[in-house]
Amino acid sequence: MNLADKVAIVTGSGRGIGKAIALKLAAAGANVVINDVGDPAVADGVAAEIKALGRQSLAITADVSSPAEVTAMIDKTLAAFGKVDILVNNAGITRDQLLLRMSDDDWDKVLTIDLKSVFLCTRAVLRPMLKARWGRIISLSSIVGIVGNAGQANYSSAKAGIIGFTRSIAKEVASRGITANAVAPGFIDTEMTRRLTEEQRQTASKQIPVGYLGSPDDVATAIVFLASEEARYITGQVLNVDGGLAGAWM
Ligand SMILES: NC(=O)c1ccc[n+]([C@@H]2O[C@H](COP(=O)([O-])OP(=O)(O)OC[C@H]3O[C@@H](n4cnc5c(N)ncnc54)[C@H](O)[C@@H]3O)[C@@H](O)[C@H]2O)c1
Repeated sequence: MNLADKVAIVTGSGRGIGKAIALKLAAAGANVVINDVGDPAVADGVAAEIKALGRQSLAITADVSSPAEVTAMIDKTLAAFGKVDILVNNAGITRDQLLLRMSDDDWDKVLTIDLKSVFLCTRAVLRPMLKARWGRIISLSSIVGIVGNAGQANYSSAKAGIIGFTRSIAKEVASRGITANAVAPGFIDTEMTRRLTEEQRQTASKQIPVGYLGSPDDVATAIVFLASEEARYITGQVLNVDGGLAGAWM
C-alpha cells in the first residue's frame, strides 16, 4: 500500500493501537498528525518516531470530545499541510460497570469521548475532503458494539453508534471519492486490556478461535489497507479484527 504524500490524523495516537496505526501509515509513506490528551510529551515522542522514518509529523495535544479543541486541531493541520486525506478516529476510553451501578458520569464520559468525538472530528475534516474529492474516514468500533458485553453498556452503545454513524456518512459522501469504514477489534494487547485480571485474559484467550490476543499491529494493518487507494470500492463496512471471536460469540 503506497500512501506517499497523504496526510493522516490519528486521534489518541500517543500509545496502543493508535500509535501502531500512526507508525504503519508513516511506514506506507503518509505524513501523520499525532493527537493525544494530557502530557504533550507523549504525542511529541510518537511524532519524533515518525520523523525518524523520514516523514513529516505534527503533535497536537487536544481533547477530541471538545468542539473547540477539535476545530483548533484541524485548523493547525490545514495550516501545516494544506489538506487532510485520512482521518482515523481511534481515541477511546472505557468506564466499565454493571448497569445498576453505572453513574451518569460513566455513561456521559464514554459516550462523549468514544462517540461524540467521532462526529466532531469527521464533521471537521469533511469540508477539506469534499474539496479534494478524496478522503478516508476510519473509526475504531469494537466487537462489543456488535455482540454486546456485560459491564459495558456505555462502551458497547458508543461502539455500536460508531457503526450507524459510519454507515450513514458513507452514503452521504460516497459520490465524492470519500469512503467511511469501521474496524472492530476483539481483544488486543494494550493498556486498555492490561486492566483485565490475568484470569479474565486467560478466559478471553480460550474463547478466541485463533487462541491468542491480537497485537496493535494486527489492527493497524487493516487500517492501512482501508486508507489506501486500492480500497476505494469498500465503504460503509465494518471489518472485524478479532481472531474469529465475534463469530464465535454470535
Ligand atoms: N484494546 C482492545 O482490545 C480494543 C478492542 C476493541 C476496540 N478498541 C478501541 O481501539 C481504540 C484504541 O484502544 P487502545 O487499546 O489502544 O486504548 P489505549 O487506552 O491504550 O489508548 C487510547 C488512547 O486514546 C487517548 N485518549 C483518551 N481520551 C482522549 C481524548 N479525549 N482526546 C484525545 N485522546 C484521548 C489516550 O490518552 C490513549 O493514548 C479505542 O477506541 C478502543 O475503544 C480497543
